[in-house]
Amino acid sequence: MHPDLEEILYTEEEIKDCVQKMGAQITRDYQGKDLIVISVLRGAAIFMADLVRSIELPMEMDFMAVSSYGSAAKSSGVVRIIKDLSSSIEGKDVLIAEDIFDSGLTLKYLMKTLHSRSPRSLEVATLFCKEGKKEAEVDCKYIGFNCPDRFIVGYGLDYAERYRNLPYVGVLKEQIDTL
Ligand code: IMP
Ligand code: MG
Repeated sequence: MHPDLEEILYTEEEIKDCVQKMGAQITRDYQGKDLIVISVLRGAAIFMADLVRSIELPMEMDFMAVSSYGSAAKSSGVVRIIKDLSSSIEGKDVLIAEDIFDSGLTLKYLMKTLHSRSPRSLEVATLFCKEGKKEAEVDCKYIGFNCPDRFIVGYGLDYAERYRNLPYVGVLKEQIDTL
């Protein structure tokens, strides 16, 4: 385990298993559809890469980058698009791959923006959904893990841009000497 972590919550194996099951479910649900999986950089990139490899259908991938104003650990709900999609989603079956659903504010904004571009369908696959009060309600069609209301890192999730490369997910120690 990384020395800055207090505890591992989800092992590499558990995550792999969960992502594979989600991919299999998506494969069943999206037969005959025009699927495009969109991920929100940077956190969801690792999840997206694993998820699409377990979807056995013809599909497209695209990326968006957004930034929420305010501190890293708390979402403000004001979202700025840093990088937009490269392709049109009109008439397509869009699935947003998200790393973690916390307050819901980021996703809510994103759903609204994408909805206005007339996709045929628009759904969310999130790897983690944090337990606790949501400031914005968004229906996530696919949820990997319902996780405790703690700040977690690894498998794409960062603290100050670090720890994204950890293959597992855990909780940071209160005191970190290496930062
Ligand atoms: P929301 O708008 O509050 O749902 O925030 C979602 C975004 O905040 C995620 O896409 C993450 O980038 C970040 N975030 C929320 N909780 C955590 C966490 O526990 N660890 C790392 N990033 C988090
Ligand atoms: Mg982040």
